[in-house]
Amino acid sequence: MNILVVGGGGREHAIITALSKSPRVDGIYAAPGNGGISKLAECFPVKATDIDGMVELAKKLKPDYVFVAPDDPLVLGMVDRLNEAGFRTFGPKANAAVLEGSKVFSKALMKKYDIPTAAYETFTDADKAVAYIKERNSYPAVIKCDGLALGKGVIIAKDFSEAEAAVRSMLLDGKFGKSGSEIVVEEFMTGPEVTVLAFTDGKTVKPMISSMDHKRAYDNDEGLNTGGMGTIAPNPRYTEDFKKECEEKIFKPTIAAMQAEGRPFKGCLYFGLMLTPNGAKVIEYNCRFGDPETQVVLPLLETDIVDIMDAIWEERLDGLDIKWSDKSCACVVMASGGYPEKYETGKVISGLDENGQSDKAYIYHAGTKIEDGKFLTSGGRVLGVTAIGNDLRSALSKAYAAVDTISFEKAHYRNDIGKRALND
Ligand code: AMP
Ligand code: GLY
Repeated sequence: MNILVVGGGGREHAIITALSKSPRVDGIYAAPGNGGISKLAECFPVKATDIDGMVELAKKLKPDYVFVAPDDPLVLGMVDRLNEAGFRTFGPKANAAVLEGSKVFSKALMKKYDIPTAAYETFTDADKAVAYIKERNSYPAVIKCDGLALGKGVIIAKDFSEAEAAVRSMLLDGKFGKSGSEIVVEEFMTGPEVTVLAFTDGKTVKPMISSMDHKRAYDNDEGLNTGGMGTIAPNPRYTEDFKKECEEKIFKPTIAAMQAEGRPFKGCLYFGLMLTPNGAKVIEYNCRFGDPETQVVLPLLETDIVDIMDAIWEERLDGLDIKWSDKSCACVVMASGGYPEKYETGKVISGLDENGQSDKAYIYHAGTKIEDGKFLTSGGRVLGVTAIGNDLRSALSKAYAAVDTISFEKAHYRNDIGKRALND
């Protein structure tokens, strides 16, 4: 088989690494890919959001599957267009990707089907939203814009004036464009966060190993929210009891709800969960693999990923037994200094071999390019330094030992990935 993977970050490198292990895969293409990915896949300079360009590329390459990994092309309907052109795909159609594309949609779905989530109201009128927040008088207040916003569309306001400013920035100042023309104001929840990615063919849902992201830029969860500074799997907070509860009250009901709405979800559904004192609740759905969750989950997958893709495409996931390693995995993200705000790129990365790898850990490339045979930084998140161990402690110590041998100017990483989980 030949497979085209859409995207060019650490998540896509992890997906491509899993594909490259399949004896069923002959060739891998990536668009746009990155420096590290180019060692496993032939890269084509087509943007992940360029739907016409991607359909044209698929017609030229004739892959057996197109794996659409990022959120924007899924929400824009890339899978629909590829299917119309006769290609097999991995990823939901636009009418199911709306689960991530619109928080107003996903909150209404959860309300209608009794899926546990934070209580909420939606608004398009700023004065009404501000009046509601004032009357509720409960802080922190959580304000989210409806659409995709590069992970920045959620504001946790600690008092009335912050909440009012958030509402105004979204509904009046158009800070998030069309994504912020409707907002959700919701209850603030507390408890540990867990990510569960799940394979689903629209009828059956098979959860993967749980994981824990570290979203803030600095140690001790300080600094701005980022795309994710590191991950571990499994997440020790996700006990057998929570697992059962989530399967019965959240995972199966969500898949059944989407089916009942005529929006069967095929692909990977990301459940962002909070284990609150009143039970597990959904923080958000994403219509795709998480980044950097994928970097710690897929290395533990023992079943051939192409067999899973076939079972999803042919809607027979029910009959497939998916096997996982019982080891642990940890990923430490090395980012450009200044990320998630302003940062410089084009820095030479040292400590990598000619394949962009290290003998101490597996290196997923998020933002790199190759120039004159050297790996250079080309994005905010640069590398996901990833190791497997018999337990979390050994996975973390291997990953950090590798981090110590890699450097580039102004490199920044967190020193406390997995620390909280170790102390549990
Ligand atoms: P999201 O982009 O929806 O995942 O939100 C980003 C982060 O904001 C989440 O990972 C949570 O830490 C936090 N968050 C979102 N919604 C809530 C909520 N209702 N209560 C508490 N924290 C929240
Ligand atoms: N790591 C969070 C996300 O992929 O949205």
